[in-house]
Amino acid sequence: MTPLVSIRNLHFRYPDGAVALAGVDFELHAGETVALLGANGSGKTTFLLHLNGLLQGEGHVEVTGLPVRPDTLASIRQQVGFVFQDSDDQLFMPTVFEDVLFGPLNLGLPPEEAELRARAALDAVGMPGHDEKAPYHLSAGEKKRVAIAGILAMEPALLVLDEPTTYLDPPGQAALVDLLRDLPQAKIVATHDIDFALALASRAVFFQAGRIAASGPVAEMIERFDWDRRPRALH
Ligand SMILES: Nc1ncnc2c1ncn2[C@@H]1O[C@H](COP(=O)(O)OP(=O)(O)O)[C@@H](O)[C@H]1O
Ligand SMILES: [Mg+2]
Repeated sequence: MTPLVSIRNLHFRYPDGAVALAGVDFELHAGETVALLGANGSGKTTFLLHLNGLLQGEGHVEVTGLPVRPDTLASIRQQVGFVFQDSDDQLFMPTVFEDVLFGPLNLGLPPEEAELRARAALDAVGMPGHDEKAPYHLSAGEKKRVAIAGILAMEPALLVLDEPTTYLDPPGQAALVDLLRDLPQAKIVATHDIDFALALASRAVFFQAGRIAASGPVAEMIERFDWDRRPRALH
């Protein structure tokens, strides 16, 4: 089966000279959920931004069987739903419904079909009854749901989420796990949240200095890189 994502020897350097990716190989198949672990600055976000061509480094990047190139970008962006770390970077329309409607309308769908998709997406994330609210009046958890609904309305094959639990309280984090688990799409999730990774991902890749240092079961990666160093209670 053709992998959903196939990346070979990816290198990327920011204009200021910072080397962010130094030879990444990665593959993802339909139905998989992979957690990206690794220290701040290890290259996770830079890597994710290559999946829909927001950044284009040197190496081979293929998504849904298509090489990421100017002529394939539109198709790839429909297939790859990118959920930004900060929902405020994603939500920009005056109301929730208009925000979710924007993607399918932008795909050129007839308005009635776009509205059906937006309705279904808001139901899927558990946000009915908020259509007329302004996104900036929502809680962090609700904003994340609406951002995900906007992505789902495009019917992507792959969901890419960058630190999705950053602004969520513990119940919000648990609710996000439940929501994402129920979605059939393959997922790539960069996260510092160990419980979230353990609950959601079937495998993890561990980034170090712009490379994937190892990959395997989430618990094994956490153990190997001593990644669970939460403060212990005092006695
Ligand atoms: N816009 C940018 N300009 C210059 N350097 C950047 C930029 N964004 C990230 N970097 C650098 O690239 C490296 C990887 O960063 P990033 O992909 O954000 O890592 P992570 O998401 O794992 O924290 C770091 O050294 C970071 O400082
Ligand atoms: Mg990051």
